[in-house]
Amino acid sequence: MRPARRTDLAVLSAHRLGMWRDIESVRPEGRRWTDAELDRSLAVYRRWAAREMRAGHLVGFVVETLDGRPVGSGMLWLQPVQPRPGPDGGFVQPYIHSMFTDPAFRGRGVASRIVRALVRWAEDRGYSRIALHASPMGRPVYERLGFAPSREMRLELPSRRRRARAR
Ligand SMILES: CC(C)(COP(=O)(O)OP(=O)(O)OC[C@H]1O[C@@H](n2cnc3c(N)ncnc32)[C@H](O)[C@@H]1OP(=O)(O)O)[C@@H](O)C(=O)NCCC(=O)NCCS
Repeated sequence: MRPARRTDLAVLSAHRLGMWRDIESVRPEGRRWTDAELDRSLAVYRRWAAREMRAGHLVGFVVETLDGRPVGSGMLWLQPVQPRPGPDGGFVQPYIHSMFTDPAFRGRGVASRIVRALVRWAEDRGYSRIALHASPMGRPVYERLGFAPSREMRLELPSRRRRARAR
């Protein structure tokens, strides 16, 4: 396992695409993303990730085979949040995302190892909590490492307004 670099962006994007595809494949219902939507979103992610890595706001780890094939990765973003009382005073919240392991390498502790490293990274810098949104496949991995559901709520807004705005 080694830290992710900006030169890994092609791999990190491919892993993120794999993550979306796998998440979609276990989602029983709901709209499927089109290839065009995924392509667009990954191109935007790549530009965003390059900028955030350069600024030191986005870090990650890549797990490789002995011959250098990247088979898993995961990222932690220092997400801006509103200030709140507490030990680190808010402003940023470490947020884990884009966890992906090549299907042929699953169940061997690749993702757990990456999450442990990301947790250590945040602990070493004095952060008091880490957030993430778990997919059904990711949930047991995070639970085993001590993550628990939070009180977050959300409201899905009707698409009518969005469509009008896009027009
Ligand atoms: C979720 C995901 C990243 C987990 O990756 P992984 O590398 O297989 O995860 P781990 O190996 O650390 O843990 C998975 C399982 O292997 C087991 N395991 C961990 N270390 C192990 C080891 N050394 N030997 C054998 N099994 C092991 C764990 O107990 C766990 O079992 P369970 O969840 O079936 O109870 C992977 O399934 C994936 O890419 N899924 C699609 C994308 C996705 O959903 N990403 C998460 C977004 S939140």
